[in-house]
Amino acid sequence: MVASDLTPELLEIGRALAAERGARLEWQEADAEALPYADGEFDRVLSCVGVMFAPRHRAAADELVRVCRPGGTIGLVNWTPEGFIGQLFATMKPYAPPPPPLWGDEEHVRALLGDRVTDLVLRRAVVTVDRFAAPEDFRDYFKAHYGPTIAVYRANAADPERVAALDGDLADLARRHTEAGVMRWEYLLVTARRRG
Ligand SMILES: C[S@@+](CC[C@H](N)C(=O)[O-])C[C@H]1O[C@@H](n2cnc3c(N)ncnc32)[C@H](O)[C@@H]1O
Repeated sequence: MVASDLTPELLEIGRALAAERGARLEWQEADAEALPYADGEFDRVLSCVGVMFAPRHRAAADELVRVCRPGGTIGLVNWTPEGFIGQLFATMKPYAPPPPPLWGDEEHVRALLGDRVTDLVLRRAVVTVDRFAAPEDFRDYFKAHYGPTIAVYRANAADPERVAALDGDLADLARRHTEAGVMRWEYLLVTARRRG
């Protein structure tokens, strides 16, 4: 089994977690838009909120299908545009547009995979998050650790008023999506079989 990601620092974290949990994986740096694997090399090709961040969606979809053997399974978890992380992206848009998470949109995924797959199942589901005691804690964590949010703050760093406005908007967003200390983040679960 191979685990790949574009960012070496994140591979290191994955490697440490896998070792801790006894999972045996090969870790490789790779771009989802140009995977260094042979056609049909894998029985299963999975991505958990990963491939959705590659900017050229069509190229990434082509690679997912290419490296899966005919009859093999493709499985994806993608944040939806309407769910919490989609709304996080919408909130950051006026400050420096991050791309919307379209891999969480059913029609977009259907069009990307096309008739190269069969048994396509698209199901929305929710992950509950109770790690943030206050909306500001969510904002500060994402400001420090979440790539797309770090990038938007960086783009506005010279303008303290915009930084303060973004601080307020992100805390408000988190507040609106928190009920009794629990946030609900919607994702799209995609499964498909590569056409044989
Ligand atoms: C939210 S993290 C998810 C990481 C991991 N899949 C998990 O479930 O914990 C998104 C990941 O997508 C990776 N990523 C972004 N663009 C990529 C690309 N073009 N090719 C491969 N990985 C990419 C980032 O490096 C980051 O690790």
